[in-house]
Amino acid sequence: MCDVKSIKLIKREIKEVTTIRELDLLRVKYLGKKGYLASKMLKLSTLSLRDKKKYGLVINKFKSDLNSEFSLRKKKLELELTSRIKEKKHDVDVSLVSRRNDLGTLHPLTKVIKCVEEFFIRLGFSIISGLEIDDDYHNFDALNIPKKHPSRDDHDTFWFDSNRLLRTQTSNMQIRIMKQEKPPIRIIVPGKVYRNDCDTTHTPMFHQIEGIIVDSNVNFFNLKWTIETFLKFFFEKTVHIRFRSSYFPFTVLSAEVDILRGNGEWLEILGCGMIHPKVLCNANLDPQLYSGCAFGIGVERITMLRYGISDIRFFFENSLKFLKQFK
Ligand code: DAH
Repeated sequence: MCDVKSIKLIKREIKEVTTIRELDLLRVKYLGKKGYLASKMLKLSTLSLRDKKKYGLVINKFKSDLNSEFSLRKKKLELELTSRIKEKKHDVDVSLVSRRNDLGTLHPLTKVIKCVEEFFIRLGFSIISGLEIDDDYHNFDALNIPKKHPSRDDHDTFWFDSNRLLRTQTSNMQIRIMKQEKPPIRIIVPGKVYRNDCDTTHTPMFHQIEGIIVDSNVNFFNLKWTIETFLKFFFEKTVHIRFRSSYFPFTVLSAEVDILRGNGEWLEILGCGMIHPKVLCNANLDPQLYSGCAFGIGVERITMLRYGISDIRFFFENSLKFLKQFK
């Protein structure tokens, strides 16, 4: 009643197996949790103490014999396989269970930045990436934002010391660009900016794309056309936009651009304007000879609108559930 199968018979079965996978299945059949040996063990509990001892010994011997038979056969099969692979009879062990290979995707913000870059490259713009750690002069002073200017308060700046800071806007590159490049200039600066602010529409780090055009006769119409054409490309042709008069210390005419959302509310997505003559002078350009326009696009804002994302913090939580939607 508690006899075990002859080990010889099982040995024969083990020998007949030709792949590691088959061998594993056979091992489960005999030694698995619900296998042959387990059923014998169950029966053991119904026996008297004397029989338990007797058959316990038999079963233990059976188990260790089987284990060594399986290990021996496995080693042999592995050796055969490696030598077959070496002889190039088999390049691949087709019996191996395949691994799941999840491909990653680009982050939605990276996707959007790439898309915006492609558009502006086609219009003849170049791309530069600017400094994230900058000084007071390039982030504020040179952009006509002196020390006590109230608009500094809007920026919630992260300071390293009294001079160095994490840039609060990609406009920090305007002066360097205008000093280094000779007009005509057409450049965009995508990058990270930092402000000490956090809620559903603000994060301490976010992205902007600064655009700057300087030439001998740039006017507001050039700016308006560029922005309208971009927004019609980025959203669908039917997108409703409005230019709203605004104020930035480094532009005169200044405007903000809003987009009409499905819920009937306007959402601001960028600031723009004609570069202030003082800023041109700070970059050693004569405002009598040159004029320019600039804009700063909020990358998170346009991405949220494009994909219908309600909370800016989703971008930075690294939730795979969120990120996988952008395959
Ligand atoms: N730098 C501004 C901001 O962060 C956005 C901006 C407004 C950029 C007007 C510009 C501009 O280039 O002309 O709020």
